[in-house]
Amino acid sequence: LYGEGRANAKGMDVTDVAKLEPLRDAMMATLDENWWAGPIVGGRPRDVLTGRVVHGPADNGKPIGRVLDATAEDATTALDRAHRARHAWDRTPATQRADILRRIADLYEENMPRLMAFAVREAGKSIPDAIAEVREAVDFLRYYAGKAEEDFSGPTVLPGPTGESNSISLHGRGVFLCISPWNFPLAIFTGQVAAALAAGNCVLAKPAEQTPIIAYEAVRLMHRAGLPDDVLSLLPGDGPTIGNALLPDPRIAGVAFTGSTDTARIINKALANREGPIAPLIAETGGQNAMIVDSSALPEQVTRDVLISAFQSAGQRCSALRVLFVQQDIADKLTKMIAGAMKELRIGDPSLLATDVGPVIDDEAKAMLSKHAERMDRDAKLIYRTPMPESCETGTFFAPCAYEIPSLDVLEREVFGPVLHVVRYKAAELDKVIDAINGTGYGLTAAVHSRVEATVNHIVDRLEVGNAYVNRNQIGAIVGVQPFGGEGLSGTGPKAGGPRYLHRFATERVVSVDT
Ligand code: SER
Repeated sequence: LYGEGRANAKGMDVTDVAKLEPLRDAMMATLDENWWAGPIVGGRPRDVLTGRVVHGPADNGKPIGRVLDATAEDATTALDRAHRARHAWDRTPATQRADILRRIADLYEENMPRLMAFAVREAGKSIPDAIAEVREAVDFLRYYAGKAEEDFSGPTVLPGPTGESNSISLHGRGVFLCISPWNFPLAIFTGQVAAALAAGNCVLAKPAEQTPIIAYEAVRLMHRAGLPDDVLSLLPGDGPTIGNALLPDPRIAGVAFTGSTDTARIINKALANREGPIAPLIAETGGQNAMIVDSSALPEQVTRDVLISAFQSAGQRCSALRVLFVQQDIADKLTKMIAGAMKELRIGDPSLLATDVGPVIDDEAKAMLSKHAERMDRDAKLIYRTPMPESCETGTFFAPCAYEIPSLDVLEREVFGPVLHVVRYKAAELDKVIDAINGTGYGLTAAVHSRVEATVNHIVDRLEVGNAYVNRNQIGAIVGVQPFGGEGLSGTGPKAGGPRYLHRFATERVVSVDT
């Protein structure tokens, strides 16, 4: 379907009952507080499996495991070991590094039910999202393996005068710190780590506080696939503890971070203020993503794409639609259709195949969303709120809702959850809409629905966003097909799953020889 560019992870056929059986078993097995996650330093977890009991977001009553947070000392030990291992790993031929990444991808596919079960239990992912999670992780591994072989396999000869030979080659920078988010606890975790490793770096991986168990399982599989012990360490735990221990250290050669814009700034400052080499920060941050729908758009298609963009993954994607601009002439009809479709959304237990919207990640996220909804209930017009079944009382669920607001100015910042805001505009105001979207300073995703080619081109040419989608939804970028990442407040680039991502993890060396 996607041709050469796609890394082609297997996925799972959910219409095949036989395939759902192992998933159901894995799902039951993960409801057990004997699961454990903790630091993996030197390839080995601790002997004593202690730690705090954690609960998944869908059922606060059932423990899903125990987590032992890494200390500052763990972080320093991991850095000592990674720093010593860095030359050997960088000198390992790119094809060998690529082979290990491919073996990890195969192990992920073999362990798909278990990895999916953790995505569902620990992160509250729906089953379709959990399938996509593992597929994206596998795609990253295979895609970066291929790119490493293409670009890191040896020097490229450059032109030069007679009597001189010139060549350029790419090398790892040293030790990379990879800090990943809870909303893609396997895919983004794996994408960052795989890229840094493929480029020849050793890695210290710091998963989100909310999702250490799936990261722990992933690192175990990575070492099982043959990754040398000291090349990758896992440091679960508190951001400031790990950050304060590592960021000031000049042996950290670069940081890959996905999360909030505010945290990206803190990391950037810490790197800027320290002694030692100037280290790159590769940051993927937030968005204030819009969709523009003009009166020529097909309402049924728009309704479907709005629901997917705003409410799939409970709106907890950095790509998700937050502000829908609808041309006045069709606004009444379209909002009615959106409300009708929202009525059909099933909120609830993410381990059930029929569930559309699972929980939000934790109490803090729910409180933030509730506070925003209270303000909207007061100051804006509610279009629709999907009723929540009683069964949702067990977890941190938040009902999808849509509000009509007068303009984008009403929103101070990104609202990370299933909340859609709708703004009406008149045809003559289109450029003002585009200016308002660009004026947020974010630049991640945007979508346009229009059947008028000139309008589509006009909007796409002017929107300052990393990923623009036309007449479709705006989430679910595919590795190698839609390289993903924003500009401005949304991130530094280069794009994850794109042809130039690995280069930012590397340093270039040129050799000139007088022959
Ligand atoms: N890459 C994801 C998407 O495209 C967001 O992080 O939805």
